[in-house]
Amino acid sequence: MKNFLDKILTHDVSIVLLVALSFFGVFKYIEYRMSFISEQINKIEVDKNELTKKVINLEGIIRGTESNIKGEQEKNNSLANQFNEITNTVGALSKLSKTDPELLKKYSKVYFLNEHYVPISLTEVGPDYRSLKSNNYKVHSNIVPYLDKMIDAGKAENVSVLVQSAYRSFAEQAALKSNYKVIYGAGTANRFSADQGYSEHQLGTAIDFTTLKTNGALEGFDKTPEYKWLVDNAYKYGFVISYPAGNTYYKYEPWHWRYVGVALATKLHEDKINFYDMDQRLIDNYLANIFD
Ligand code: DAL
Ligand code: ZN
Repeated sequence: MKNFLDKILTHDVSIVLLVALSFFGVFKYIEYRMSFISEQINKIEVDKNELTKKVINLEGIIRGTESNIKGEQEKNNSLANQFNEITNTVGALSKLSKTDPELLKKYSKVYFLNEHYVPISLTEVGPDYRSLKSNNYKVHSNIVPYLDKMIDAGKAENVSVLVQSAYRSFAEQAALKSNYKVIYGAGTANRFSADQGYSEHQLGTAIDFTTLKTNGALEGFDKTPEYKWLVDNAYKYGFVISYPAGNTYYKYEPWHWRYVGVALATKLHEDKINFYDMDQRLIDNYLANIFD
């Protein structure tokens, strides 16, 4: 019996010892795994910190590269702008060299056109655009599109502007003036007619307009809707009145308009100044673009 009890006790103690040993083993294993995992976490932390440093470094490099690219782009843009400016300047100079400088000069007792001056090309105004009494209906070829457009725009608004007198050669102006002197005397003739060489008509860009409402006469033109329409609209087509009321050169000539280009005509219209009151140096700035 005692032996039997001893056996059982020994057996139980063995089990307890075994269980205790197993727990200890498991505990140690867990402890070992925990310490391994903790080491791994530490390693990962270190790697993460290193990676973060690398990322920050790379971000710095990218920012630097971006800023270099931006700098290069700005340099390229600036070069492109300079190139465009130079191209524009060359274009303007080339246009200027091909444009007749007389076209924006002041005449009328101020500047003399010699007897050989003839516009580079003259074109007859179409029959629908002439007054019945017109016989000087040639104009500088480059102004034809502007003139036709202007007259057509007037027609669309029931306004009938017609060409009465356009290009006159030096000789034709001389004959006309001498005729006026005979009829009216030099004093009166000088108030409304230019001497040869001083008339804008020799340029082919000045036109006397009339309308059937005055039976083709120039006198009384300022009382017509056609004149009012020109005052409001002619600048859009590049035309300005040369001798408005109160000018110091000739008597008021509501019929006499001159092509100076859309940009200059618009400037004069907006600023309410007359061509002859503008400084010639300012006028010259518009020469390169007179036919744009
Ligand atoms: N009637 C203007 C002034 C001219 O003869 O040119
Ligand atoms: Zn005239």
